[in-house]
Amino acid sequence: MNVKTICAKNNNDQNYISVLSPLKIGEVTLSNRIVFPSWQVNYANNDGSVSDKLLHFYTGLADGGCGLIFTGCAVVSPDTVAFDRVMRIDKDTYIPALKNLFYEIEKRGSVPGIQLIHYGRQALKSVIGCDLLAPSPIPCPVMSTLEPNYTVREISIEDIERLRIDFIKAAVRAVEAGAKVIEIHAAHGYLLNQFLSPYSNHRTDNYGGTLNNRARFVVEIIKGVRSQIGEQAVISVRVSGNEFVSGGLTPPDFKNIIPLMEKAGMDLLNVTAGVYESMERIVPPEKLGETPHVNIASELKKFASVPVCTVGSIFSLETAESIISSGKADLVAMGRAQVADPEIVRKSASHKEAEIRKCIRCNKCAFWTTGDPQMHCSVNPSFKCEK
Ligand SMILES: Cc1cc2nc3c(=O)[nH]c(=O)nc-3n(C[C@H](O)[C@H](O)[C@H](O)COP(=O)(O)O)c2cc1C
Repeated sequence: MNVKTICAKNNNDQNYISVLSPLKIGEVTLSNRIVFPSWQVNYANNDGSVSDKLLHFYTGLADGGCGLIFTGCAVVSPDTVAFDRVMRIDKDTYIPALKNLFYEIEKRGSVPGIQLIHYGRQALKSVIGCDLLAPSPIPCPVMSTLEPNYTVREISIEDIERLRIDFIKAAVRAVEAGAKVIEIHAAHGYLLNQFLSPYSNHRTDNYGGTLNNRARFVVEIIKGVRSQIGEQAVISVRVSGNEFVSGGLTPPDFKNIIPLMEKAGMDLLNVTAGVYESMERIVPPEKLGETPHVNIASELKKFASVPVCTVGSIFSLETAESIISSGKADLVAMGRAQVADPEIVRKSASHKEAEIRKCIRCNKCAFWTTGDPQMHCSVNPSFKCEK
């Protein structure tokens, strides 16, 4: 039974009526409101192309009934390959394997999306092999403790222009491969988030200072992507609605940022939280309780006319249902819950909640905090540690 059949059957049963109802965004219709957020798993081949293991990871989620699956993140430029076996989309040679991945996801009734990333200062020079770029030459307080030669170079106007084109070309490749949602990663302290935030952007040119200037780079990328792909795919932007650092972005800042992004062509706003300095906000541990970031999404939703997705410690469709039905968000992303049990949507929709394998919130999946080279899950045998 594919995703559409699961949702249609469920809607007849009046179970999880809001969360399992379809949503049309632009030309794309999602069968339900459950999203798999972008998860870097480092399961790609050594050259960054889609491997069988990566294909298996995402087709499992599609088989399980998830409405929208973001694959990725995928690296847009050769100067930001920050991990071994991270997915790449900086050359046309990646298109055929991506095409197969998106085809297999769509065949199962899910909508395939991809997230595009440049890590900026949140990387290691020893891995990247060249200068780390950031809006201002301010070291990342976390990464700079990890290597003695860590330095950051202020990005030049020429580099901004080059990377703008890299993001746009990556989006065009993704659409050619069949992605229906293109997500621009402007969250979690990576390059575009660094530009947006007064915390990390101290520039005095057209790309720094005022809010309009700080938003200029991401807005130019959104506009450029829209002009190249037309209405062939939905453009999503992921932002950290609260960076949880002193002097960083908080929800009121988005009152003016969101209209700029919407005007440029954003169709979907994906709200998360945190940067590396506030890592526990990126993958919230148990001590932060359940749904710690829903209110941030609902704050930003007040400024948005496009649909809004929330994320963070949402572990059941019952919780997702209450978020959607109360109007706090239009979509609910579930990361760890779906990795622990990729069939959580299907099982919930068929009243088999008792069979769901639950995430224990050990957070060992957050491999970059444990030193593991790739993602593994303590409770899902398909993704147990291979060591
Ligand atoms: C292994 C792992 C990889 C992640 N990779 C990404 C990523 O590539 N892009 C991104 O925006 N967020 C990434 N995140 C954050 C998740 O998308 C999500 O926001 C986070 O896991 C919180 O959701 P959850 O509580 O449902 O797991 C990652 C998280 C984990 C644990």
